[in-house]
Amino acid sequence: MPVRSTEWEGVYTDGPWLLTRNLVPGAVVYGEGLVHGRDGEFRRWDANRSKLAAYLKRGGQVWPFRGRSSVLYLGAGSGTTASHVSDVCADGTVAAVEISPRSFRGLLALSEKRPNLIPILGDAAKPESYGARIGSVDVLYQDVAQRDQDGIFLRNLDLLRSGGIGFLMVKSRSADVSASPATVFDSTKRALAHARVDLVDFRYLEPFQADHGAFVVRKS
Ligand SMILES: C[S@@+](CC[C@H](N)C(=O)[O-])C[C@H]1O[C@@H](n2cnc3c(N)ncnc32)[C@H](O)[C@@H]1O
Repeated sequence: MPVRSTEWEGVYTDGPWLLTRNLVPGAVVYGEGLVHGRDGEFRRWDANRSKLAAYLKRGGQVWPFRGRSSVLYLGAGSGTTASHVSDVCADGTVAAVEISPRSFRGLLALSEKRPNLIPILGDAAKPESYGARIGSVDVLYQDVAQRDQDGIFLRNLDLLRSGGIGFLMVKSRSADVSASPATVFDSTKRALAHARVDLVDFRYLEPFQADHGAFVVRKS
């Protein structure tokens, strides 16, 4: 039976599983299991498929997502994690940027059922191309697995409101295939130290996501 988390608003647990309440009852997004409870229908949130779920499984402490939050999600793919954020921020907005037309098609189909999901076909390295449509958001979430992932995140910080929270999911092999994850993560920490943010949490995402680290910052 799903139990409401006291730490993470909008997240439920069922034994080892994390769950979110399904915004579109009866619909699955990536083959996840559905669980029925007293409060309705819930979707299992797989930490092996989602870095944000892995962050929670690794004891992540910072959880800014609320029912009415506005979120800018960079590198949404076909919407696996974005769909869970859309469940949590049911009365908010999730603007989801994706560069690959193929993945974007999945995102677009998802947005037809989820009114709070705004799909944007675009390049996260060029926030000026979508910034005017987004305005200023409560939460910035990035998972682009690109060589310049730090630089892309820093450029998008202008779209995060003051006091807002940013998540930067870093894949060390994307930044430098030959460097150790620890070396890549140190380099990201140095890059963030020069920005207008405070690092408020960091988690290694092993064993759920190999060579990944989650950086969480608060904008000054
Ligand atoms: C690891 S996958 C994302 C998985 C997704 N975040 C999830 O958890 O469901 C990384 C995604 O970032 C996208 N991407 C890479 N570079 C990008 C860019 N410059 N702008 C927008 N999306 C980008 C890729 O096409 C890919 O779909």
